[in-house]
Amino acid sequence: MIPQSKSLFMNLDRAPDDPILGLPKLFNSDLRPEKVNLGIGSYMTEEGHSYLFKCVETVEKNLALHNTPKDYLPIDGDPIFLKTTIALNLQQSPDPEEVFAVQTIGGTGALSLAAEFLFKYFSKTIAISDPSWANHAPLFRKAGFDVRLYPYYDVVQHKIRFNEIKDFLLNLPSSSIVLLQSACHNPTGADFSKEEWQEVMELIKEKKLLPIFDNAYQGLGASIEEDVYPLQLFHKNKVDMLIATANSKNFGLYGERIGALIFSLPNAPFKLDILSQVRRIIRSHYSSPPIQGAKIVGEILNSPILKKEWEKELKGIHTRILEMRTAFTKELIFKSKNSGYAFLYQDKGFFSLLGLSEEQVLTLREKQGIYMPLNGRINMAGLTSSTINYVTDSIAKVL
Ligand code: LMR
Repeated sequence: MIPQSKSLFMNLDRAPDDPILGLPKLFNSDLRPEKVNLGIGSYMTEEGHSYLFKCVETVEKNLALHNTPKDYLPIDGDPIFLKTTIALNLQQSPDPEEVFAVQTIGGTGALSLAAEFLFKYFSKTIAISDPSWANHAPLFRKAGFDVRLYPYYDVVQHKIRFNEIKDFLLNLPSSSIVLLQSACHNPTGADFSKEEWQEVMELIKEKKLLPIFDNAYQGLGASIEEDVYPLQLFHKNKVDMLIATANSKNFGLYGERIGALIFSLPNAPFKLDILSQVRRIIRSHYSSPPIQGAKIVGEILNSPILKKEWEKELKGIHTRILEMRTAFTKELIFKSKNSGYAFLYQDKGFFSLLGLSEEQVLTLREKQGIYMPLNGRINMAGLTSSTINYVTDSIAKVL
């Protein structure tokens, strides 16, 4: 045996905890009963529990009842899941020669597959919004990319920095990749208007940039259809794009790790060559994707009855998040005597940036047991009617 002091791994540094996924550990070890978890982006019911969609439960029972075998899926995933996922993202069934997809390990898996493929075959430069989801920049850096941050949001004015974004994109080398979020921008909650999307699309087309969309919150911003407006717009205008999509939030399938990477490439002639290279990457990482999440989502989207049920349940969740957002904002404006917080009414999806400093976030954590990432991102989907009062009181105290 190698003595401890001679361990081959003795020079390894301890990596810091993940800024988002590290929070549940801290939260769970906090013994205060009044503690509130507004960190990780998952949905809580009014009773403060996680939610299992009824339509998911129905499909899971059916799968168990029929002893559905657990055979290997093809490398690119379950065909029904892939077909219905493309249709959900683009709101139509496009020409399979132009649009194809592979199943991935959640949305993060889709992004990291895209990163490996694009770095090898397309470009070494990617532009990512500042701020963005905490995992975006590290993920693309790890793949080797030169990550450039485009100014996205003014935290003081609570506004998208649209002119600066356009300037930035205009100055990017052509063939660079641009990461965009289709709806419910994480962490700001601030999305482009339709007019702004039109301008961004034209600019990307003219500059020959390659957009990759992160579509993680479809149905939780405005509606299932509206939330993919940019995807439909880019598709209609024949702009090549990739879409990393996930069913964690809109099917409540967080732990199933189910997602897809969609290639919408009307201008690329060699679909099978591309797919073959993507398959090779998947095979070398995890061989083929897991079956359960794909069966659940595929069966729901493929059955008109189950799909209707899913839409209804998703709408219910969406409505409750909006109610939490409205009640929270009203209380915060009242308690802080600052009508400037009215911008929170307009934000979309789970998140908003309150503009809190790290020190204020840590004070809320230490003194009040309220947990959010250090960038001050609040998760409206983690609030309940019974926590809003305590949370807004506590935030007003640190302002
Ligand atoms: C979040 O942003 O909180 C979620 O997307 C969960 C995660 O993986 O970070």
